[in-house]
Amino acid sequence: MSPTEHADDIALTVDRLASADHVCCLTGAGVSAESGIPTFRGADGFWAGGRAQDLATPEAFARDPEKVWEFYLWRRGLLTEKKPNPGHLALAAIEQHVRRFTLVTQNVDDLHRLAGSRNIIELHGNLWIDRCPACSREVHRSIEDVSNQIPHCDSCGAMMRPGVVWFGELLPAEAITTAQEAASSCDIMMVVGTAAVVQPAASLANWAKANGAFVVEVNPEATPVSHLADARFPLPSGQILPQIADSLVSRATS
Ligand code: OAD
Repeated sequence: MSPTEHADDIALTVDRLASADHVCCLTGAGVSAESGIPTFRGADGFWAGGRAQDLATPEAFARDPEKVWEFYLWRRGLLTEKKPNPGHLALAAIEQHVRRFTLVTQNVDDLHRLAGSRNIIELHGNLWIDRCPACSREVHRSIEDVSNQIPHCDSCGAMMRPGVVWFGELLPAEAITTAQEAASSCDIMMVVGTAAVVQPAASLANWAKANGAFVVEVNPEATPVSHLADARFPLPSGQILPQIADSLVSRATS
């Protein structure tokens, strides 16, 4: 990318960020791709070959809990060497230089938190949480205390499950309510690295647009929400977000 490519859209986006009362940003697997974590729907994605039905539904867990547990153990293992990339770090920097920032993520990899983002809503849970389906007790794990065997709940004895949302399940009520409130009240909505095909997250950009927000999309591929974008960057987030963040930070400090 040449330095002048997308310069007008970067300047416009930075103007909007600088004057916004509330910035909302929805992220998806694409923002973690440059950290070396596969996306879901790409050719090498987690769901390639129709694996979602076997690995990410309550029915799959009821049928074969060990197989599902093993898949999530493998995904936890994948994360241990992974670090936030420049896209994650740029979002954390943007948060520090706007009035209010709400980061709504579909990712379960914890990389936004590790990058320094603070106001995070996890729509699809977190890979490092085990949850009891019977009494809702949650246990935060680290790679050191992840169990190869499926653990049982210390409170009620039920078999624990990964603390992520599966296909066919409702999102955590507070998370989706807060995300919808943020999308409907923000001045600028950023949509980064998501195919925007899984509801209700995919509709957040529509909510924002309907409320008059300026919509920014960062994604090398077009998506069902691309037509809403006032500024669209068809580039990897790790390339474009640092340019936006740097420009915002130098404007704030000059
Ligand atoms: P997908 O795998 O469906 O889409 C990833 C998106 O990231 C695609 O649109 C890519 O074009 C884009 N992308 C790839 N590399 C990128 C980069 N470097 N920078 C920016 N964008 C890039 O992932 P999600 O949309 O996040 O849910 O999927 C949504 C949900 O579907 C996931 O949270 C997961 C999945 O089923 C659950 O597991 C509940």
